[in-house]
Amino acid sequence: MPTRIGIVTGGGDCPGLNAVIRAVVKAAAKRGWETFGILGGFDGLLTPVRSRRLDYHEMDGLLFVGGTILGTANKGRFAAKVGLGEAQRIPEDVLAEAQHNVDGQDLSALVVVGGDGSLSIAQQLFEHGIPVVGVPKTIDNDLEATAVTFGFDTAVACATDALDRLRTTAQSHRRVMVLEVMGRYAGWIALHAGVAGGADVILLPEIPFDYETICRQVADREREGKHFTLVVAAEGAREKGGGYVTQGAREGNREAHLGGIGAVVTAEIQRRTGKEARACVLGHLQRGGAPTTFDRVLCSLFGVKAVALVAEGKFGHMVSLRPPVVGEVKITEAIGRLRTVPPAGDMVRAARALGISFGD
Ligand code: F6P
Repeated sequence: MPTRIGIVTGGGDCPGLNAVIRAVVKAAAKRGWETFGILGGFDGLLTPVRSRRLDYHEMDGLLFVGGTILGTANKGRFAAKVGLGEAQRIPEDVLAEAQHNVDGQDLSALVVVGGDGSLSIAQQLFEHGIPVVGVPKTIDNDLEATAVTFGFDTAVACATDALDRLRTTAQSHRRVMVLEVMGRYAGWIALHAGVAGGADVILLPEIPFDYETICRQVADREREGKHFTLVVAAEGAREKGGGYVTQGAREGNREAHLGGIGAVVTAEIQRRTGKEARACVLGHLQRGGAPTTFDRVLCSLFGVKAVALVAEGKFGHMVSLRPPVVGEVKITEAIGRLRTVPPAGDMVRAARALGISFGD
């Protein structure tokens, strides 16, 4: 019987998941291996197992398709993270059931494609005896031990496009336009899109803001004859001394659902400056659609490397990009350590030099 490997996508979806699946299936097929997709996230490993063989020919055209053909979930019996820095042990019986089913399916390895939460699950599966290899995914780009995760570049491109569109309507109406973007507790999407889209104010979780400073920027621009202002707010941005804005209470063992800061900031800017202001929440548009060329290349490299790690028996490791090298690190080096924007880093300093305010 040929070697069989499994692949599972966990957590929120992300542009490029299908491109990784494609690369894994193709690289495995080149070795004469079969790949089985676990359906619906990690719960697909539980009885009754939900999996299907992924055919080499089925991969045609998948490179640029958004979403994941396997399905995914960020809830279920495998929750390994409940909030900022809070890890959670997966019950022993759940891990044992997964191991029993991995053995029952004759899978000699499991490729886990996911962010911090899914890789925390991967680590626990590995500690339980399942040969696991990780591939780092998340639009938030908040994983340690890799220079970049796939999906981030596509999310930034989407947010930048939104800023380009908001600029013209802001200019026409002489308004303040506030774009709220995702990123959870890290401001990478807001920072990169803000610089790429020429925002005037960028609000990040890492740099708490005050309204006076934001409104001063709006006023300064007015004086310069610029009667509109573009603000990009990360969903985790918060006022100095304030808390995160969330969409209601945390549900059970799920992570807090951030969101709403854009509307709060918009109302306050309008109240303080008297200028008309509007909010736009980009939301899940950032997670859909075709991956950018950069992400397609990254996903292809990551998928091929994951199969190579399986071949080398480097289990408990995650593919990692350290330009120009696509290498590997222990999964433990990547999880539980949020990679956030350094407030004094080059990117923030460059943005300030361009006249962008962080509201601090
Ligand atoms: O981690 C990816 C992400 O899109 C975050 O940026 C966002 O806070 C969260 O997932 C949204 O999750 P959901 O799809 O469950 O609303």
